[in-house]
Order: sequence, then structure tokens, then C-alpha cells
Amino acid sequence: MAIVIRRLEEHDEVENYDCGDDALNNYLKRHAWANQLKGSIGVSYVAVDEGAPRMVLGYFTLAMARVPRDVFLARLAVDRRFAGGGLGHALISEALRISLQVADEVGCRSVISDAYLDRVGWYARYGFVPIEGATATGPQRMFLDMRTVRAAVRR
Ligand SMILES: CC(C)(COP(=O)(O)OP(=O)(O)OC[C@H]1O[C@@H](n2cnc3c(N)ncnc32)[C@H](O)[C@@H]1OP(=O)(O)O)[C@@H](O)C(=O)NCCC(=O)NCCS
Repeated sequence: MAIVIRRLEEHDEVENYDCGDDALNNYLKRHAWANQLKGSIGVSYVAVDEGAPRMVLGYFTLAMARVPRDVFLARLAVDRRFAGGGLGHALISEALRISLQVADEVGCRSVISDAYLDRVGWYARYGFVPIEGATATGPQRMFLDMRTVRAAVRR
């Protein structure tokens, strides 16, 4: 597979997308494009294979956090059929690269994400640390200092 990560486009195929989570499936199928058109709500990026460039395999959505010093990694999900093969890594790496660009161009302090409780360990691999108390059912807010991202990129 030759994976390309690019902005979501209107005619991308999302109807059969299934990451195993209804809320994340529904966001991609019903809201991601509309929100992107509105411009101010959030921009989604999709992973596709060059051989089938319309079929979405995974995605993430970036938005500005309520506190505008932070980028909000609002969504990130890989279709179950393609999980475990490094696509999640490719998506989060690209999300962090874009966040760093935002930080360099307009300034921001960190990336935050609301992680499902069973994914806290996955985010921690990238340096995200839990902040604020999680409720019993989650999600857990996590914080990644932009300096950590910058240091990782330079390594
Ligand atoms: C979480 C998710 C994005 C990961 O995508 P992926 O393509 O399967 O991930 P990758 O292949 O890049 O990485 C898998 C690695 O993460 C590890 N991993 C997976 N879940 C983990 C967890 N909860 N804690 C620690 N490590 C974890 C795996 O063991 C594997 O390790 P390895 O690279 O050493 O073999 C994907 O499983 C997904 O979309 N899940 C459903 C939606 C979801 O939970 N999204 C996050 C919302 S907060």
C-alpha cells in the first residue's frame, strides 16, 4: 500500500468506513465534510491508498481548542480492516506535523485530545500526558506540549 494523507474531499468514499466506534463512524459519514465547508469548525484529513484514492482508511480532525493556545485533536480513527498496520501512527504523525506548523506560524502551546480510556496508553506512546480527572467512563483529556513535539521531530 502507498498511503497518502490529505484533506477530506467532497466525493471521498466514507459510507463503508468502520473503525468499530459509532460516534467516530458517524462523524466522518455525516458531519466531517459539512464542518469542513463551514471552515471554522474543524478540518479533517484522511488516509487513502494511492491505488484506491477515494476510499477512506482512517482519518483525524483538527480544530482549535476553546482555549486558543491549544490545537484540539478532535478525532482520530482507523477503519478496522486496516488497524494494527501503522496507519494510526501515520495519522497522528501527520496531525502533529500540522500542529507544529500552526505553532510555528501563529503560535500555540500544545495539542490536546480527549482519549477513550482504553486508548490512553496509545496516546502516551507519543508523549501525551493525562490532565484533569477522567470520569469513570472517560474520556481522558490528554496534553502534549509543543516543545515535546518539536524535540521529537528534530530527533
Ligand atoms: C487507536 C487507533 C487509531 C490505532 O490505529 P492503528 O492503525 O491500529 O495503530 P498503529 O498500527 O499505528 O499502532 C499500533 C500499535 O499501538 C499499540 N497499541 C494499540 N492500542 C494501544 C493502547 N491502548 N495502549 C498502548 N498501545 C496500544 C499496539 O500494540 C501497536 O504496537 P506496535 O506498533 O509496537 O506493534 C485505532 O485502533 C482506532 O481507530 N481505534 C478505534 C477508534 C479509536 O479508539 N480512536 C481513538 C479515539 S480517542
